[in-house]
Amino acid sequence: MTDRSGDFPIVDASGCIRPGRREDLDDVVRIHTRELVSRLTDLGPRIVKRFYANVLERGIGRLSVGLDEGRVAGFVFSAERVDVLFKNALLAGPADAVRFVFDSRKRALPAFLATSLRWKTEKSALDVPELVYLAVDRDRRQTGLGGRLIGAAEKYFQDLGAEFYELSVIEKNPAVVFYRKRGFTVTQRLILGSTAVLRMRRRF
Ligand SMILES: CC(C)(COP(=O)(O)OP(=O)(O)OC[C@H]1O[C@@H](n2cnc3c(N)ncnc32)[C@H](O)[C@@H]1OP(=O)(O)O)[C@@H](O)C(=O)NCCC(=O)NCCS
Repeated sequence: MTDRSGDFPIVDASGCIRPGRREDLDDVVRIHTRELVSRLTDLGPRIVKRFYANVLERGIGRLSVGLDEGRVAGFVFSAERVDVLFKNALLAGPADAVRFVFDSRKRALPAFLATSLRWKTEKSALDVPELVYLAVDRDRRQTGLGGRLIGAAEKYFQDLGAEFYELSVIEKNPAVVFYRKRGFTVTQRLILGSTAVLRMRRRF
């Protein structure tokens, strides 16, 4: 079965995972800002929405959404190369730069820029496929949706011909256990400010 609105097949046999669409943006932004601790979240919902809108418009990476009783209850966003992701999605030219500053929470901008710079200098692998964001509504967890969304991301990575992919997760996030159980191993531990962040990798 192929979803006509996207260019890849529905991954899950039950049909509950499908490509993200423009009309999913409000749900994706709501789930992202509520469930994910990230430097993008800190910039505020307007920039989060712009990020996903541009991702869809510009064909960057792959956004998949998970449905529960017909409603978007979770999503996963993956990218081929995370080092150019934010530039391509939010800062591709002067017009982007103006909108970026206009849409962002001004007080969060210095921390965003400092963290981006530290990532660039400290992260061991930059040009690798990455599972960038994964989140499920807190009242819809523990039903297998997170695992199925990882399956959708892995289909994308395998389509790219990748032998492995990586992600970043805050060390104290319970999701670390979730990832370990799914075959991820830690490749690097970074300290960003007062936060310990793990780089995790899964090989196919
Ligand atoms: C991490 C996260 C995406 C997992 O989502 P989820 O939908 O709860 O994931 P699943 O249901 O597939 O798996 C969670 C647990 O439920 C169990 N489970 C799966 N299907 C189940 C079912 N039908 N009935 C009961 N339990 C089930 C799984 O065994 C799993 O347990 P385990 O971790 O001990 O193996 C979710 O907790 C989340 O959004 N967290 C906040 C955001 C976040 O931290 N994201 C990661 C940032 S890197």
